[in-house]
Amino acid sequence: MEATEHRMNGASTVWVSVVGARPQFVKLAPVCRAIEAHNQRAGCERIEHRIIHTGQHYDRNIAELLFVQMAIPGPNHNLAVGSGSHGTQIARMMARMEPILAAKKIDWVIVYGDTNSTLAGALLASRLKLPLAHVEAGCRSQDLEMPEEQNRIVADHLSQLLLAPSQAAVENLHREGIGNEGDPRKRRVAMVGDVMYDALLQNMRLAEECEGETLRQYNLEKGGYYLLTLHRAENTDNPERLGTILQAASSLDMPVLFPVHPRTKQILAGAGISLNGRLRPVTPLGYLEMLAMERYARKILTDSGGVQKEAFYLGVPCVTLRSRTEWPETVEAGANRIAGVSAVAIVDAVQEKIPSDRCGTQPYGDGKAAEKIVSELCQSRR
Ligand code: UD1
Repeated sequence: MEATEHRMNGASTVWVSVVGARPQFVKLAPVCRAIEAHNQRAGCERIEHRIIHTGQHYDRNIAELLFVQMAIPGPNHNLAVGSGSHGTQIARMMARMEPILAAKKIDWVIVYGDTNSTLAGALLASRLKLPLAHVEAGCRSQDLEMPEEQNRIVADHLSQLLLAPSQAAVENLHREGIGNEGDPRKRRVAMVGDVMYDALLQNMRLAEECEGETLRQYNLEKGGYYLLTLHRAENTDNPERLGTILQAASSLDMPVLFPVHPRTKQILAGAGISLNGRLRPVTPLGYLEMLAMERYARKILTDSGGVQKEAFYLGVPCVTLRSRTEWPETVEAGANRIAGVSAVAIVDAVQEKIPSDRCGTQPYGDGKAAEKIVSELCQSRR
């Protein structure tokens, strides 16, 4: 993607968002809209918002297409780090980002979620003594083996402003001494809700427009298929485990639409695992097509954090292919089963009757998280 310049004359506060992986583009989109709305209001201090795309994700369907579909301004910088080991990837991000962050007076560096791009942005901002805000702060799966858990804990502990998606996330932070009365660094924790809920509400109409065509494209009927996503390292990097999950999915009683993440595709090819039975492997879907297909799935099977929440918002029962989740509210509401990775448990969870409503709860805010994030960032400026 071409880097574009969006310099705004007369801007008096400069914020830099660091993103790089698919779910971060989804989280960034509502924040961009809220900043735009802020800048259009008379009398407000203008925000110059700059976007750094680390290039962690680069395949069109999981990167550029999301910018287009969600009307995200093109990034000011694309670091084009590409794939690599954790060390290589994080080091490249930090080395390439450093001159950009050091060159300008910056009022906020904003990081999102829990990927390697989050970690690199948080560490570098901290080393350069730049104010750091973390969107989706305080989530915990209590499994420190997950790279995502490590990334989110480091980002939280280095941030001055922690923007939490739920009350449970606020409490996790307080338990770790962040933002409570005894916090010597006086960090601020604010419960703003989940920006992914904003994104879903803002894009549902567009998703509806493409649902008929997407269903036709995959020859599926509303309520007549399952949707499977599988890409987390703990599942993909163990070919035996990957094979077991896919075996269970392929034996289900309806077609299983399976958008295959590039990481998973590569590992399947290397391990010689073939996809058969009810599985319908397809290339990753755009954001809008994904929402459409999630909405009409009988159930969703996933190891993604974001997809668990989208299932919850859409009222589609979810079976989580992990032993822990950082979104416990979806489980407490009865809408999500943590099946783990045994074939029997997965098939049982899919067959079990899981209520498709959310039991009237909405633990992740009111769909206006991005507006609250912008307001918190404005108010908490040093
Ligand atoms: C990353 C995040 C994960 C997030 C996921 C969303 C980390 C540690 N993990 O996982 O938390 O849920 O993004 O999708 O940051 N690849 C391509 N094309 C691409 C990107 C990746 O082919 O555009 C392949 C490469 O073989 C690469 C592999 O996928 O080595 C893994 O990519 P990587 O960015 O390291 O992690 P994800 O599995 O995508």
